[in-house]
Amino acid sequence: MEQYVSLTIDGAKIRVPKGTAVLDAALDYGICIPHLCHVRGLTPIGACRLCIVEVFKNGQSKVTASCTLEVEEGMRILAHSEKILKARKNIAEMLVAEAPNSRAIQDIAVRCGVKSVRYPFRHENCVLCGRCVRACDEIWQSKSLGFVGRGLARTVRLPFDVRPDYCKKCNYCIDLCPMTITPCPGPMKKGNEALCGLCESQLSMSENFPDSCVDCRLGEGFGCARK
Ligand code: SF4
Ligand code: SF4
Ligand code: FES
Repeated sequence: MEQYVSLTIDGAKIRVPKGTAVLDAALDYGICIPHLCHVRGLTPIGACRLCIVEVFKNGQSKVTASCTLEVEEGMRILAHSEKILKARKNIAEMLVAEAPNSRAIQDIAVRCGVKSVRYPFRHENCVLCGRCVRACDEIWQSKSLGFVGRGLARTVRLPFDVRPDYCKKCNYCIDLCPMTITPCPGPMKKGNEALCGLCESQLSMSENFPDSCVDCRLGEGFGCARK
């Protein structure tokens, strides 16, 4: 028989099967925690750090990624404390500087309250979220893609940069990549960097309705249950 545990997230009492990730539990209850690298059902790797939460246990608190954290009985989680919002905003700002022309990342950044970016733009075409690598390996058992190199030289590559025979041509690696979601009408261009006004207007509209979905399009590719 399936075992359940009870916890609170942002004050909401939640009861979910043992082994559930805190992030999935929150999303199932309509609590939107921004996230990028997480795909439900794939091994969590805690790469983007957007999903950080504050966990209170035995009188102490710590900040940790919620996609790699399993629910525990009596856990108290704050996903939107002042401390978390500030840290998450900074993470989103760094991500948007890394890949400013990703619609998904722009949406997430605006969602996290980023209004301008203080970091130099790097215009990367990959943010190393590992969604493609894990989907290829874990859903299709193909291992056609893998991480190569370390630090700033780290990239995702096909073996010898050629699509191998064992690639299933499923296109999951493309569908799940945050870089491939169609850019918004006002993507950033070098020398003309600004966050897209469309998301911002959606966000400002939502300020009067704190519980409403701002249609940040996370729901399309990122499993947000808020819709
Ligand atoms: S298309 Fe090929 S490389 Fe991409 S996820 Fe599918 S099997 Fe892997
Ligand atoms: S190619 Fe796309 S899905 Fe793969 S790691 Fe890079 S950003 Fe993530
Ligand atoms: S979604 Fe949790 S670290 Fe990326």
